[in-house]
This record gives sequence, structure tokens and C-alpha cells, in this order.
Amino acid sequence: MLPTAFHRATETVTHLRRKLPQHLATPRVAIVCGSGLGGLVDLVDAEGREEWKYEDVPGFPKSTVVGHAGKLVFGTMSETKIPVVLLVGRAHFYEGHSMDTVTFATRVCKVLGVETMLLTNAAGGLNSAYEVGDIVCLNDHLNLAGLVGFHPLRGQNEEDFGVRFPPLSDAYDLSLRQLAYTSWQQLRTQQPSNRKMHEGVYAFVAGPTYETRAECRMLSNLGADVVGMSTVPEIIVARHSGMRVLAFSLVTNKAVLDSVPKGDDPSLQGLSREQLAERLSRGVANHEEVLEAGKQAAIDMQGLVLRIVGQL
Ligand code: HPA
Repeated sequence: MLPTAFHRATETVTHLRRKLPQHLATPRVAIVCGSGLGGLVDLVDAEGREEWKYEDVPGFPKSTVVGHAGKLVFGTMSETKIPVVLLVGRAHFYEGHSMDTVTFATRVCKVLGVETMLLTNAAGGLNSAYEVGDIVCLNDHLNLAGLVGFHPLRGQNEEDFGVRFPPLSDAYDLSLRQLAYTSWQQLRTQQPSNRKMHEGVYAFVAGPTYETRAECRMLSNLGADVVGMSTVPEIIVARHSGMRVLAFSLVTNKAVLDSVPKGDDPSLQGLSREQLAERLSRGVANHEEVLEAGKQAAIDMQGLVLRIVGQL
């Protein structure tokens, strides 16, 4: 019989703890850094920090995406000295990894004794009130891949982690979301900017293509405010094992909700192929744009996370 995820995660934790000093061996909080948000690592004191490349951690996959460095960092949080673990970069389903691999790091966090997972990601904004660079505190999700069978808890239930049929109606911890608001207000008073924080629903899609216009309209009609290719499997596995969860999306592009222009549209007659291509490319998502928006908003995200972790 194959070893269970609990068994594998326990072995990984034993391996990590051989090197970790006592005060870092049981981090209270795990922070998952999404695309372009690796700068969150600056929140950890440089002194005494312990780092592993994912490829050197048993059971961890290599990350294959530009902008995802792929390292595990243990340290104390600056100012408050709370022991934390950072997951810089994550394994995505679209890279070809199984749901088991995508969520393995979350299971390792549970076995390490982590109580609270703070997850960040880059996402496309579906809600027309959202601007590029805004931050969205997630309060619910649509697990589209999960609803059609790509679910991290499919298969034999691991009782060591949790129950067979875990509820998700309370997945996004209300008191943590309240803390997110107060922390955001504190940050805004100290560092004013136009960036807004919203609260909304995240639609998880398998990727790797960005959505068509019709898919964006569908997701928006279904009640999603942002769309992305990560986070939900980790949140499900975290909740299954009783960890508290707080998740933020950084809006890195606005999803295109307008219909594709019709071939007989009179206003497009007589335009060259280049002019038509320019019309169609407006608002189209691309990975460089996603990384650029991440850079600018990363400082605010760091300030927010620092304040939240300090008050946990
Ligand atoms: N769609 C899906 N995933 C994403 C997007 C998007 O528009 N932007 C960043 N990640």
C-alpha cells in the first residue's frame, strides 16, 4: 500500500526538524506567497532564517513558473518575533501536478503545528468595481475544478487530518476577515494610497489558459468576483485539518467581459488586420502584466500581512 499523505508529511517534517532550531520548529502561521508576491519574505528576520529550495524538500515538487522561486523559509516575523513558515511559490494543478502534490505543502504545515494559513495569489478581477492593484479578501469560493471531480480530498479519507465530509460554509474565518479590515485601516492611515481592499468570491479554474470572454461572463454571472488558478485546493485541505484560513487576491488584470466583436460589426469595416488585432487585444491578460501589478502592490500586501500576523 502507498504511504498516506499524513505519513509522507510526517517524514518531511522530521527531515526539516533535523536542521531547524527549537524556536522555529513549530511555526504558528504559514504564509503562502503567490505570483510576484515573494517579497513577503522580507517580513522575516534575516538573522536565524532557515531556507530550503523546494527541490531539496522530500515530497515537494519543482515549480515551473516564472516569478515563482520555490522555497520554504522558516524564521521569526520582524517586530513581533512570531515563528512563521513561508511558502514562496506553489505547485499548480495546470503544471501537471496531481491535487495530492498541489496540497502537500499545506499538509506539511498542519503536521508542523501551524494554526493559521495566510494565502495570497494573483487573480483576474471580474467585479467591475475592482481595479488592477486592488486587494480582495476572500470570503467564499467556487471550486469549479472540484465540482467536476478534480478535488484534493477525493479518494480514501485520511482520518489523521479530518472527517470524510468536511463543511466549507465557514471556510473563510470571519474573525480573521475582521482583523484584515482593521489592519487595512491602520495601514491606510499610515500609508495613504488609492488602492482599495474589497471582500469577494474567488472562482478556481484549472488553467493554464486565461478565460475566454464568455467564460468571464459565466463566472461573473455565477457570483465570482475574482478568478484564478490556485489557492482553493490548499484552503480545502487546510480546513479539512482544522487550520484557520485567511486569503487575499491581488487583482493583477481585469477580466474581459465584453462580447467578442461580431464579424459584421459596421464600425470595424475597412480596418486593417493590425487595427483589428489592436481592438481585440485591449484588456487581454498576460503573465508579464500579472507580475508587474504584483510588484507595485507587494509593499502594501507586506504591510497588511505584518499587521495581521502581529495581532493573531
Ligand atoms: N485568470 C485566471 N488566473 C489569473 C488571472 C486571470 O485573469 N490573472 C491572474 N491569475
